Amino acid sequence: MKIASVKGMNDVLPTASAEEASFHGGVWAEVVGAAQRVFSRYAFDEIRTPIVEEAALFARALGESTDVVGKEMYAFPERGGDKLLALRPEGTAGAVRAFLEKGLGANDPVQRWCYFGPMFRHERQQKHRYRQFYQLGVEALGVAAPELDVEVLALCRDIVLELELPGVELRLNSLGDPADRAAYVATLKSFLAGREEKLCGECRARLEKNPLRVLDCKNEGCRAQTAEVPASWESLGPAAKEHFERVRAGLDALQVPYVLDKRLVRGLDYYCRTTFELLATSLGSGQQTAAGGGGRYDGLVELLGGPPTPAVGFAMGVERLCALRAQVKGLPKTAPELFLAIADEAGRARALPLVQALRKAGHRVEVDWRGGKVGKQLNRADKRGAKFSLVLGQAEVASGRGKVKRMRDGAETEVALDALAASLVDPEGN
Ligand code: HAM
Repeated sequence: MKIASVKGMNDVLPTASAEEASFHGGVWAEVVGAAQRVFSRYAFDEIRTPIVEEAALFARALGESTDVVGKEMYAFPERGGDKLLALRPEGTAGAVRAFLEKGLGANDPVQRWCYFGPMFRHERQQKHRYRQFYQLGVEALGVAAPELDVEVLALCRDIVLELELPGVELRLNSLGDPADRAAYVATLKSFLAGREEKLCGECRARLEKNPLRVLDCKNEGCRAQTAEVPASWESLGPAAKEHFERVRAGLDALQVPYVLDKRLVRGLDYYCRTTFELLATSLGSGQQTAAGGGGRYDGLVELLGGPPTPAVGFAMGVERLCALRAQVKGLPKTAPELFLAIADEAGRARALPLVQALRKAGHRVEVDWRGGKVGKQLNRADKRGAKFSLVLGQAEVASGRGKVKRMRDGAETEVALDALAASLVDPEGN
């Protein structure tokens, strides 16, 4: 029996169809390239932390009662050891672990990091929700100023603009400092007291374990029950209130559009003050889907045993960004500029130095080393979407000249093989 891929884990292929744009290698290259350009403009430097960490790191950082830790983590005993290990469900915990373990704060209290890599969550199968998915993100440690939140939000916005993503809305909330959050949870609990019967089973369980999550339940009945709940930003303490106001003023000054959203509580426990999500309206799953999310996590470094260290960050889902990008731009063309067909052994011998010279000059060239019937090779040139083709054989080698064929209309131009590069420009600009 053939072995298939694991449910929720996908291949990214250059041949993926438009419907599978989330897994098209060319779209990935566009998305990752754009994000990396933006990261670089903001002077964020890349980190790579391991995919496997101790499960306890995530339990402590994200919260035992979160779905990500409680229900979705891929955890397994260490082979030959006594630790429980886990595939990372997100990137923030590992970044903070590295920050602490390497004592990086002592060298420079301010760290501006970006990352790109796979994350793992054993989630229920759904459109745009995978068990292995990739995140692009940033983590900025060591600065409490609200301007940094604004900068991180502007960076997010710039990635959206750079990729020309359609229908992406920035949603903003503030959960305040821990005391504000605790007071808000109390407000929420008393608001919901007497309404338990009308909540879904999951939300009734959440009332005990993680009442904030009742706010982002997708169930219509639950949403009706929480429609009138006060927003957390209405009752912030003075410090968090000022912080939130300055974040909003900064976004306004930069003309970064956003919508306040009291339901935006995030699924991980480490957040305080600013939280945000990029909601995509056009991913076609009936509901809005988060293309990214993040916020402040000023207490996390301390929670993991370090000194008080403010921090803010976000991560975006690469597959979701790809789906959005392909909606407006389609699949990128990665076809060869020149496809070389080999007519005989003389052509084969000449082909290698010829194409290497073209590649050195920056051209994208493919050779059909299988040889054989020239017609078959040219069919492949067509299939590959090549712009031009050239058949190389004894006659071309002897004369030093060949016919460059423009594939879209078959127009042929005779050129000197040594001057092939110049003929790879379509005079009609196609
Ligand atoms: P998160 O909201 O859990 O935040 O994930 C960020 C993004 O990853 C989501 O908005 C979504 O686009 C993508 N994502 C999450 N789960 C899946 C999935 N199962 N399939 C496909 N895409 C998914 C975090 O992970 C935080 N670490 C972000 C952060 C960084 N906060 C501060 N710093």
